[in-house]
Amino acid sequence: MGQEVVRLLSERGDRVWLTYNRSEERARDLIAKASGSPGLVNARQVNLEAAVETERFVKEVLSEETRVDGFVHCATSVYDAPITGLDFERTAAVTEVMLWSFARIAKLILPRMRRQRYGRLVAVSSLAAHRSSVGNGVYSAAKAALESLVRTIAVECGPKGVAACAIAPGLVNTDLIAKYTRMESIVGRVPLRRMAEPAEIARFVALALAEESGYLNGTTVSLDGGLSTAL
Ligand SMILES: NC(=O)c1ccc[n+]([C@@H]2O[C@H](COP(=O)([O-])OP(=O)(O)OC[C@H]3O[C@@H](n4cnc5c(N)ncnc54)[C@H](OP(=O)(O)O)[C@@H]3O)[C@@H](O)[C@H]2O)c1
Repeated sequence: MGQEVVRLLSERGDRVWLTYNRSEERARDLIAKASGSPGLVNARQVNLEAAVETERFVKEVLSEETRVDGFVHCATSVYDAPITGLDFERTAAVTEVMLWSFARIAKLILPRMRRQRYGRLVAVSSLAAHRSSVGNGVYSAAKAALESLVRTIAVECGPKGVAACAIAPGLVNTDLIAKYTRMESIVGRVPLRRMAEPAEIARFVALALAEESGYLNGTTVSLDGGLSTAL
């Protein structure tokens, strides 16, 4: 999904800095494709489990760019375990990627955005922040906390022209979902009877980042094909 966001932003002329962890080839491919677009794409390998790597990356971006207008947090780690089987070391690592890396990056870029009196943050959450499923406790809790951080940023930074929102997809046709079996039965409960394509979510992320969406702040937008409203 992140690569679709990068593609759209570079097509509209943005200067984009992206991080990857294991997908170096995909990152190279994105840079190559973006070379024909009006924007610019830079990529850095960053393991978001390591706070020091996350912070080094943001400091590099801040030193290279005079303005930082937007930040999209899309990375996720997955850890399936029932509460009775939780390994807290693994929980902390996963939560660092899903939640605390967002806070670390926000902490460093918000002062710049506040000085600019402009900034847009978009966190990719999940329907799982609002609905529970067996073995998904860490993911659900981290996504719920991510949405909570978005609301806090909205009230703390709104007066300085900085807005934040979260987007909560339901089922999206990506590598993440490909590992799960029995997806057909869940897709069958989606009123639209299909998963979202990554580009459908990415278009909304790009819209939420745009100046035209200036009044979007402190909220979570569901993009789940109606799954959250179905019985
Ligand atoms: N797919 C769905 O059905 C669905 C539903 C609801 C919400 N979402 C949310 O949508 C967002 C995008 O998910 P996706 O479906 O595109 O998943 P994905 O294909 O599994 O992508 C996850 C991304 O997170 C990065 N990542 C994982 N661990 C990392 C680490 N330690 N350091 C740095 N990067 C790391 C991966 O980078 P590398 O590949 O480079 O390792 C990858 O680009 C996530 O926030 C997810 O929770 C997805």
